Amino acid sequence: MDENPGGRRWWHGAVLYQLYVRSWRDTDGDGYGDLGGVIAGLGYLSWLGVDGVWLSPTMPSPDEDWGYDVSDYLGVHPDLGTLADLDRLVAEAGARGLRVLLDLVPNHTSTAHPWFVDAASGRGARHRDYYVWADPAPGGGPPNNWINATGDPAWAWHEPTGQYYLHLFLDSQADLNWREPAVHREFEQIIRFWFDRGVAGFRIDVAHGLYKDAELRDNPPVTSPDPLAGRFGQQMTYSANRPETHGVYRDWRRIAAGYRPPRLLLGETWVRDLGRLAAFYGHDDELQLAFNFPFVFAPLAAGDLSGVVGATLARLPARACPVWTASNHDVGRFPSRWCGGDERKTRLALLVLATLPGTTVLYYGDEIGMTDVAVPPGLRRDKMSASGGGWDGSRDRARTPMPWDASPAGGFTAAGVTPWLPLGDHAVRNVAVQRGDPGSVLGLCRRLLALRRAELGGRIAAYERIAAAAGEGLWAYRAGDLVVAVNLGDQPAALPCPAGEVLLTTGGGEPAGGRALGPWQGLIARRAE
Ligand code: GLC
Repeated sequence: MDENPGGRRWWHGAVLYQLYVRSWRDTDGDGYGDLGGVIAGLGYLSWLGVDGVWLSPTMPSPDEDWGYDVSDYLGVHPDLGTLADLDRLVAEAGARGLRVLLDLVPNHTSTAHPWFVDAASGRGARHRDYYVWADPAPGGGPPNNWINATGDPAWAWHEPTGQYYLHLFLDSQADLNWREPAVHREFEQIIRFWFDRGVAGFRIDVAHGLYKDAELRDNPPVTSPDPLAGRFGQQMTYSANRPETHGVYRDWRRIAAGYRPPRLLLGETWVRDLGRLAAFYGHDDELQLAFNFPFVFAPLAAGDLSGVVGATLARLPARACPVWTASNHDVGRFPSRWCGGDERKTRLALLVLATLPGTTVLYYGDEIGMTDVAVPPGLRRDKMSASGGGWDGSRDRARTPMPWDASPAGGFTAAGVTPWLPLGDHAVRNVAVQRGDPGSVLGLCRRLLALRRAELGGRIAAYERIAAAAGEGLWAYRAGDLVVAVNLGDQPAALPCPAGEVLLTTGGGEPAGGRALGPWQGLIARRAE
């Protein structure tokens, strides 16, 4: 609908960088990263070679969930800066050819949002129906069995008005009622407000979640421990994943398509089933990008990853752009999760992320192989995991400050200021030390991104798996004019086809005799034919 004749869009073949603003760079000495820090780091992002950034929540919020509890959708959080700072950031990024996506949270608001404050003032309040209110179950107690992200009932009793309100996350995050037309009108104004300011698009939080079952039916049980199948023993059949949600994205896509260049909608689509994932692209009239969590949760193994990639490409509609990511602020960092801190594996994972077709999203720190940090319980800031919730340990582990250098404050904040979360191994792993070393993970990442831009940029390259000998850790594929091979195993693995000119290797040297990769070695070559 908004495509030019060739169907190419700036995010095709692009690399986005998820930037957790509070943890990236502090310029006002309060221990929190800020928009000034993002502006100061734009030169670094250009040098690294990304095409755009997704900023974690920037809107005013009481920070019960670090910005995912919005109290004003049209502002900037004072800890992070001002609206003028955000405008300047968009302009200065744009001057460098970098796009800026914001995080939009349409599933719920903070209970401090004026809509909720009004809604809670009485059953007849103007904004009452902006939220999901329900009477107690016939025998008393919550209206149904839904549970929230901490494992507790998803309903909070509101004594003054004698009803429950729904909160699928913390009780300070009240779910919006998308069956109320005024909510649609509010969000259409909100997205236009930001698009008008030059924001390139949104990452949409809980994109699968907006509508709830009209009859509030009980969710069925689930036995699988798979985090995408359900949580706390329950499938999210009726509390999320409702078909009506697609209509919201069709409306938003029409709005996004009306801008030049068209604005981008990237959904946090937390689904296991790839058919469901594909549905978020609609008939090229819903989201242009949808995060692929089956890929995130697949182990770093040739059969698993190639299986998800193949199945994803088979399921997505023609011309849909897949998205590949391996770390984020919820699931943790891939150098820990996938690689157990083994740098050979981190290099291979980056090689894969840089050569898959579509859009790749890196998380800040991925480029230096940053690992999760064990944040002691007394220093934790995440209330969702502090309450023992549905996340695998504390999410703080993947939100620690960006280590810019080896100084005590890591170059993240001024000397003597205590960062909001502790630094990790910044004395040995930091940007400064790696920037000076072309053989570092950062050096590799930068070369990979340059190679991607030159060879795969501007389009969704054709992907084709190359069959390899069974039982080996080898995953080989053609991506456009490239041949990529990674050996995700401890034994040498034969290359399944002759490689042409080798453009890049990891794990030291040329492949043995040109025919085999060593353990945990990878290469990118030109196609021989
Ligand atoms: C999404 C965010 C997560 C947040 C939750 C509630 O999953 O990524 O950080 O806690 O939504 O907004």
